[in-house]
Amino acid sequence: MQPELQHEQWSSRLTFIFAAVGSAVGLGNIWKFPYMAGVSGGGAFVLVYFFCAALVALPIMMAELLIGRRGRLSPPRSMERLAADGAHSRHWKKVGWIGVLAAFLILSFYSVIGGWATAYVPKFVAGTFRGADAAAVGAEFDAMLADPVTLFIWHTIFMIATVWFVARGISGGIEKAVNFMMPSLFILLVALVIYAAVEGDFAKGAWFLFHFDFSKITPAVVLAAMGQAFFSASVGLGTMMTYGAYLPRSVHIPRAAGTIVVADAFVALLAGLAIFPIVFANGLDAGSGPGLVFVTLPLAFGAMPGGMLFGALFFILIVFAALTSSISLLEPVTSYAEERGGIPRRVLAVVIGIVIWALGLFTVFSFNLWADVHPLGMIERFREATFFDLIDYATSNIFLPLGGFFIAIFAAWILDRATSQGELDLDDRWYGVWRFIARYVSPVAVAAIFIYNLS
Ligand code: TRP
Repeated sequence: MQPELQHEQWSSRLTFIFAAVGSAVGLGNIWKFPYMAGVSGGGAFVLVYFFCAALVALPIMMAELLIGRRGRLSPPRSMERLAADGAHSRHWKKVGWIGVLAAFLILSFYSVIGGWATAYVPKFVAGTFRGADAAAVGAEFDAMLADPVTLFIWHTIFMIATVWFVARGISGGIEKAVNFMMPSLFILLVALVIYAAVEGDFAKGAWFLFHFDFSKITPAVVLAAMGQAFFSASVGLGTMMTYGAYLPRSVHIPRAAGTIVVADAFVALLAGLAIFPIVFANGLDAGSGPGLVFVTLPLAFGAMPGGMLFGALFFILIVFAALTSSISLLEPVTSYAEERGGIPRRVLAVVIGIVIWALGLFTVFSFNLWADVHPLGMIERFREATFFDLIDYATSNIFLPLGGFFIAIFAAWILDRATSQGELDLDDRWYGVWRFIARYVSPVAVAAIFIYNLS
């Protein structure tokens, strides 16, 4: 064995919380949650999402953090090391590989959407949306998507920014930025909810989000809500395992995980409460898909005094929220590569970034040149799906739950009790609760939702 590489550690409990909340809170909350809720029937989706966040994402996040902190390495190697310690199969390492693959795929499209958000900052600065009506705002968005060169450029810029931070290691710049950006995002989001309450159709928006129409709970909606719970909390591919590997012993994992999951779900909810009242007040289609926030928010800002300034500010904050998440997608792969030794982190981050950037072109062209390419068109469910739709679907609905399933099994069935209880630092009763959920509830829920969807 070659000498093991020692990774950096978080400088404090708080920096870890900021980094982990920064990872969880991102486009998944502000872009994906509202449009998924809109497509999947509102309250039914939201309710199932909350259940999955509490009973699936939270226990698996605890599992990831404990495996990471005990293994102290990237996901494949932490799994390998802990499996070897207990004389278990070396194949557990492969769970880490599922995560590496998922990270490549997610970041490939994440960077493109992050690019959209970045592109909106100069649009606000230029006053593009001042006084614009729904049709004009929609046309602006459609025109952006139709232009592959524009998407290409912004995707490239976003990817360069992601690589830049990861190449430097995170403690230097990003932690400081996040300290300031995350609270600002939160405050502006609350302000926007108040605006939506005053100017929008708040009652209808809230009704849409919270009215649980059980007839709308179909297998597809349940799968989508579970996928969203994984995606939004950054669980299932090893992001939290990687962040756990840098975690000081003094941090209490269950409390930290609870904080992260609650903060994440709360921001998603606020985003929904900011967006749907505007959707309904303007007669927009809640189920219009990935463009939802890019149409509703400019509409709201366009009608507000000082809206161009606030709009630019708000989109800058979205970009930062997205960057603290995209960094956490590149970090697990980079740390894995780094452990092989010899090649410096900067070089690795750049090379991996280029590969993911190239993969991202599939998403770039999904909205224009290849909009009519439906690779799985022979399957009814994917008849109209573009490359982007398929990558998005496969990662959230297959890779993350699958990774999470095995992580739960590993932590709660394979690892010995002394290890997991020691890392979680829970008394027998609460440890028992976690282990019961991680052994039975989470994996069974994932498996059941999978099987239910196949039939
Ligand atoms: N959770 C982030 C968001 O909501 C995206 C993200 C970052 C992620 N790291 C992840 C998703 C790991 C799944 C797994 O935008």
